Amino acid sequence: MPAISAKASGKIILFGEHAVVYGQPAIAAPVTQVQARAMIMAEPRLPAGSVRIQAPDIGLESWLTDLPENNPLAMVINQVFVKIGVDQPPALTVRVTSTIPVASGLGSGAAVSVAVIRALADFLGHRLTDDEVCALAYEVEKVHHGTPSGIDNTVIAFARPIFFQRRPYGNQIEIFKVAKPFLIAIGDSGVNSPTVHTVGDVRAAWQADPERYEHLFAQVGALVQSARQAIEAGAIDRLGPWMDQNHALLAKIGVSSPELERLVAAAHKAGALGAKLSGGGRGGNMIALVTAETAEPVCQALQQAGAKKTILTTIQ
Ligand code: PMV
Repeated sequence: MPAISAKASGKIILFGEHAVVYGQPAIAAPVTQVQARAMIMAEPRLPAGSVRIQAPDIGLESWLTDLPENNPLAMVINQVFVKIGVDQPPALTVRVTSTIPVASGLGSGAAVSVAVIRALADFLGHRLTDDEVCALAYEVEKVHHGTPSGIDNTVIAFARPIFFQRRPYGNQIEIFKVAKPFLIAIGDSGVNSPTVHTVGDVRAAWQADPERYEHLFAQVGALVQSARQAIEAGAIDRLGPWMDQNHALLAKIGVSSPELERLVAAAHKAGALGAKLSGGGRGGNMIALVTAETAEPVCQALQQAGAKKTILTTIQ
């Protein structure tokens, strides 16, 4: 049997991170410049049921049965077997590679899950719908995030810009129209910041002062609604100041950092129309709204201000 592979892109949150965990809406979009890839290879020489996992980027080479149950890769593989009703899989190797930096707000965990789910299901002769892929990936997100909203697995499974709102009985997921494509420069602070920590800290702060935090989250939610309307209307210039306001609210929520502040300031100075952290915060990536003219100077300024990497992506 030939090897089967699947890819999944990274993502950015344009507006609404953290508040989205508390029921406010958020907007996210795929970033195709970085990708996770899963390849499934048949191993006819190994006994049936042998599942080998190779993830050279993180130095992992193991049998599935040797990994702890809560290992995200083991979880995702076992979930596909359960979903498809496979008791004993054919002998196979799952090989995972990724160019998405980990713990940096670009959705690396969700992208690996989505790529593995698609490739493995295809290999086993079952094509899953985007909804099914999304739901399986969400289960693994709980290991990465603690109390995830579900936005990461959703935008990555659907691979389109989405408006997302967490709901107790079925999340609201809308693929919305980008009337006029726009450019976003992404700057990586180089600081690893696992989302589970920032989400946990925000939860503790919210529990200590729910009124203050609910008010901050509601202000973020209002910006998200305005931003969606502007994107659907092609009024891109309006987004810049709203990104700045969203960033200021995230700083009040407690998830900015000196490195992110430096990058946001540098982007502004070089002509960005707006800038904010993106994802869990305290490190990871920030984003800046740029034009064809300011893209290059903003990326250069970000690098001079300490960005380990910059990516220019088009939201469309
Ligand atoms: O995976 P990250 O770092 O992009 O964070 C996801 C966004 C949060 O709102 C911080 C968490 C969540 O589950 O929505």
